Amino acid sequence: MELFIDTANLNEIEEASTWGYIKGVTTNPSLIAKEGLTQEEVINKIVKLIDGPISAEVTCNNDVDLMLEQAHKLYEINKKNIVIKLPINEEGLKICHQLSKENIPTNLTLCFSANQALLAMEAGATYVSPFLGRLDDIGENSFQLIQEIVAIKRNYQYQTKIICASIRNPLHVKNSAVLGADIATVPYKILLKLKQHHLTDSGLVTFEKDALKTAQLNK
Ligand code: E4P
Repeated sequence: MELFIDTANLNEIEEASTWGYIKGVTTNPSLIAKEGLTQEEVINKIVKLIDGPISAEVTCNNDVDLMLEQAHKLYEINKKNIVIKLPINEEGLKICHQLSKENIPTNLTLCFSANQALLAMEAGATYVSPFLGRLDDIGENSFQLIQEIVAIKRNYQYQTKIICASIRNPLHVKNSAVLGADIATVPYKILLKLKQHHLTDSGLVTFEKDALKTAQLNK
């Protein structure tokens, strides 16, 4: 399973780009708003930091013409890597279908049900993003949602990639991978936690001490 970073923070993206296992970036209007720059400024900077899919979200919702215009503008920033993020609603699905005919990649976001994911796949979405954390927050079951969407994809061999989003903890990442999602997009703080294990830390301390004993024999 690929890992993307879910942030618009340039320092976090720059740091994550050195790790070797971050393959893309997802942003949304709330993440962009934290950065004090325009969306175009942020996206222009991100494309210089990561050579992989970068989701940029269309914001002028409910007006198909305006949304399409914004989608094309965002895509022009970097045709190699920009992915147009669209809501799973009537307008978003229409635009998804149109952009797929133009070979412009799309990420259908705010997905909370298997049927929404099915529509995204049928409309030709490149990616669909089920939101795990927000679903668990309201007492629903993100584990089941991933299972259902993965099953639908496999039953009909859809090419749409499943990006698990709204990740709140390492368990969400593990569940995504175990159940067969293609990608998890993960906030910086959670990415840091993925490599942590207290037995790794204590084991390393022991190995270092023992290596020192052996090194002293060599003197
Ligand atoms: C990414 O594509 C989503 O916009 C993001 O993961 C949403 O996360 P949140 O539910 O923590 O806001």
